[in-house]
Amino acid sequence: MSLDTEPTASETSPHSSRPDLQVSADETRLAEMVEEQERIFLDRQPGSRALLERGKRSLAGGVTSSWQIARPQAVFISHGAGSKMWDVDGTEYVDMHGGYGVSMAGHAHPAVVKAVTERVARGTHFAQPTEDAIAVSEALAERWGLPLWRFCNSGTEATMDAIHLMRAIKGRDLVIKVEGCYHGHHDSVQVSVAPYAEDVGPADHPTGVAASSGIPQAIRDLTVIVGYNDLDQVERVLTENEGRVAGMILEPVMMNAGIILPAEGYLAGLKELLHRHDALLTFDEVKTGFTVSGGGATAALGVTPDIVCLAKALGGGVSVAAIGGTAEVMGHITDGSYDQVGTFNGNPLAVAASRAALSDAFTPEAYERVERLRERLVTGLQDSIARHHIPAHVVAIGAKGCVVFSESPVRNYRDYLEVDDTYSHAHWLYQHNGGVFLPPWGKSEQWLISVQHDEADIDRFVGNFDRFATDLRS
Ligand SMILES: Cc1ncc(COP(=O)(O)O)c(C=O)c1O
Repeated sequence: MSLDTEPTASETSPHSSRPDLQVSADETRLAEMVEEQERIFLDRQPGSRALLERGKRSLAGGVTSSWQIARPQAVFISHGAGSKMWDVDGTEYVDMHGGYGVSMAGHAHPAVVKAVTERVARGTHFAQPTEDAIAVSEALAERWGLPLWRFCNSGTEATMDAIHLMRAIKGRDLVIKVEGCYHGHHDSVQVSVAPYAEDVGPADHPTGVAASSGIPQAIRDLTVIVGYNDLDQVERVLTENEGRVAGMILEPVMMNAGIILPAEGYLAGLKELLHRHDALLTFDEVKTGFTVSGGGATAALGVTPDIVCLAKALGGGVSVAAIGGTAEVMGHITDGSYDQVGTFNGNPLAVAASRAALSDAFTPEAYERVERLRERLVTGLQDSIARHHIPAHVVAIGAKGCVVFSESPVRNYRDYLEVDDTYSHAHWLYQHNGGVFLPPWGKSEQWLISVQHDEADIDRFVGNFDRFATDLRS
């Protein structure tokens, strides 16, 4: 797996709209561009505007998750096929939002459609296992090198099970979490997800900051925050709290702060340190699973943790999640010392879709094709960045990538805070109005190249970026 990283520069808290931004030299021009592009955007979306107004009368905020709110307006979608999707006004987009990383199989992948159609006609829920669940767990065991699996329904549930398991197995309450990693919306991981610069405390001793309202201080105190790519901090926390740390959870490649790659030896070093202190390591592969490679970051980067959490892409577009672990870890589920439960766990529709995605969409040939498309995209963007002297660089791995609007490399959340976010929204609008749908959250998110994208899709992205860069310099 190749890692394409080239320093360049950008900030706003990933999941916050707060504008505590660094001021860029291009600020005035960007403001003009945003104004014009938002007007074009709104002119193209009358159907979405009408639905949003109607939705607000029965759906809080008119949407079904707060992350569907976009500036200047949420976009209502009609349907998707292959690499494309269409909004309710009939406008076509190359979908590189990918539903926050779910749509690795593309839309309506024929194998997923067939599997779901057949399953739906035979009943979709029994709260009893089906054979598909075994086939999927066998495939996951092979791809991740971890023998035992269980299913659940969202990334949040998977990381919640992982935290419970680490605490249950070690009989300890403290958990280490990385500043700037998002692991879902349960209490233990809702700490220092996207804190503001003035709240974060010293870099070598980060303050734990509640990521939303409703998180009790008593729970927050059990989550100890460290910086990414810093083994010394983990060693300090383990030593200062000897015998009190159950384990550590992190995204092996950070993907809720743009994309931040692990330094050489970081993941292996974590595993060694944690095991030396009799604590466990969990990789949250909710975003990296099936996108960084067919076996996620675990296979691509060669470090196998004690526990892996999967969700998003696993179901080929259907809602499902999974947790996998070593025989020792999962033995605590088998012997009943931890009850891993859920009415919809292993739902027949979800595991039928997962089986089809794994066998027919996430193939070695598909990943080779995605690699070629990623190379084409990275090269096109780097060329445009250089020609127009844009203060930016590209970071990409597997099917994922992003333009980081900074000339300096980003190694952790503190570096990420320095990135100027004023470029990201303008770029997002140029892509959107140019027919490429990206996640609407500024510098925090990244593109997804599905197994159904093609060269023309990639070229549309590069063309839009070049138009953005040309206008910025005009
Ligand atoms: C790395 C990571 N973990 C966990 C989650 C939570 O997943 P879900 O939204 O399915 O609960 C997300 C969601 O974006 C995520 O990016």
